[in-house]
Amino acid sequence: MNFEKLISPMTRKTFYQKIKGKRYHVWKSNSRFKDLFSWKEFDNYMNQIEIGQWDRTPQLQIIMPDGSKWCKKKDKEKKSRKEILRLWNEGCTFILTLSEFLNENLWNQCKEFEKEYGVGQANLYCSKKADAHCFPIHADSTDNFLFHVRGDVEWYLYNEYAEGKDGKRHRREDATLNQSFTLSPGDLLYIPKKLYHKVTTTGPRISISFHFTERGTEPYFRNDWYDWKP
Ligand SMILES: [Fe+2]
Repeated sequence: MNFEKLISPMTRKTFYQKIKGKRYHVWKSNSRFKDLFSWKEFDNYMNQIEIGQWDRTPQLQIIMPDGSKWCKKKDKEKKSRKEILRLWNEGCTFILTLSEFLNENLWNQCKEFEKEYGVGQANLYCSKKADAHCFPIHADSTDNFLFHVRGDVEWYLYNEYAEGKDGKRHRREDATLNQSFTLSPGDLLYIPKKLYHKVTTTGPRISISFHFTERGTEPYFRNDWYDWKP
């Protein structure tokens, strides 16, 4: 879906003048993202853990019960397939990072954004149940577009930026709630970089964060998705 269609009926002009870098915004819609990622694809991905000696799931990260993050690739501590399943059942949120290559729809969506922004990345946030372990209040260093694919997510958006436009820094402990709301499949949320936010889950969910570096002076072109089907 190209950028203009994604943000319609808002125009690009309005987005750049009134929203980008200034405030968050929600576009409500109906299940329009269901083909981006399915529970079946999640199941397939997770079953590639510990098959033979090759690691096919290095991009997996897990938000642990204490709010810390376990990175399969970077952390020294290894976890068995059984332990990872236990964490999933316990309600830890799983993040499949760098997922824009997992299927053609994710790939194309990322590519569409890259016409507006610089290099992009898709992180899939998957949780099994309500009140899953999620990140505490935090701010991201890039603009974020959150696609709600399956299930509902409760969002909390705060007034403060980790670093305001005036260069003033705010601590997360001092962040004051601006608004909370529930987003459902098909909804799209834009969060400007550095704005404090957090989520809670109300049931099983898949949401996708597309985030981007700002377009630099170097042009960037993502490869085309080739059709290898016979
Ligand atoms: Fe975030």
